[in-house]
Amino acid sequence: MKIIRAKDYKDMSRKAANIISAQVIMKPNCVLGLATGGTPVGTYAQLIDWYNKGDVDFSEVTTVNLDEYRGLPRDHEQSYWYFMHKNFFDSVNVQPDRIFVPDGSNPNAEEACREYDAIIRNVGGIDLQLLGIGEDGHIGFNEPGEAFELGTHCVDLTESTINANQRFFNSRDEVPRQAYTMGIKTIMQARKVLMVANGANKAEIIKKAFFGPVTPEVPASILQMHPDFILVGDQEALSLI
Ligand code: PGA
Repeated sequence: MKIIRAKDYKDMSRKAANIISAQVIMKPNCVLGLATGGTPVGTYAQLIDWYNKGDVDFSEVTTVNLDEYRGLPRDHEQSYWYFMHKNFFDSVNVQPDRIFVPDGSNPNAEEACREYDAIIRNVGGIDLQLLGIGEDGHIGFNEPGEAFELGTHCVDLTESTINANQRFFNSRDEVPRQAYTMGIKTIMQARKVLMVANGANKAEIIKKAFFGPVTPEVPASILQMHPDFILVGDQEALSLI
């Protein structure tokens, strides 16, 4: 595990974007596992900036996103498909046929998840997986208490996650109750894992996840066992370690 301390959110975003750019430069046809949430938005903005300056080229890159709400069509403003296009894909040259997000519009959970695992396998696995972390230690939508050995699967969102996500919807009732997510096994199989974390509200969980016991109660704690895991955090998120 490698920990990189950043001054603030902008610095965290720049450092994370640097690691992603290095990956793309070293292996132009790499597979990037991408994440939604507030934390990586600055990282995407930095990558867009470098793309516009001609410093990084995504034309051969394949992307697989971590998760998607079950029941939201792609064009729903709160779908992760939509989020990724708005915050990244619409501004860079990732080829549309190399963009993959679990199919939230497929009500057949078993089929949607099986197909997604097949996609990840067929593209040769993930070279670099970007992750945020939930205040309860979730990664993707892998909530506390879930088995470590799962591939892509359907999950019921916890109350804490529904509450955290309600800010993006008109009302709490509109927040989907289920999601399709890569499992911990999928994430652990990525050749490199890069986590971004900022803000004081992440300090406790960062300490617990990376300096406490490895347990399914803290899903991110398994990353202690990953052979190439990098955490980039700002001062506030890393204040307790
Ligand atoms: P955030 O979400 O980046 O919006 O804090 C992180 C997560 O829940 O994985």
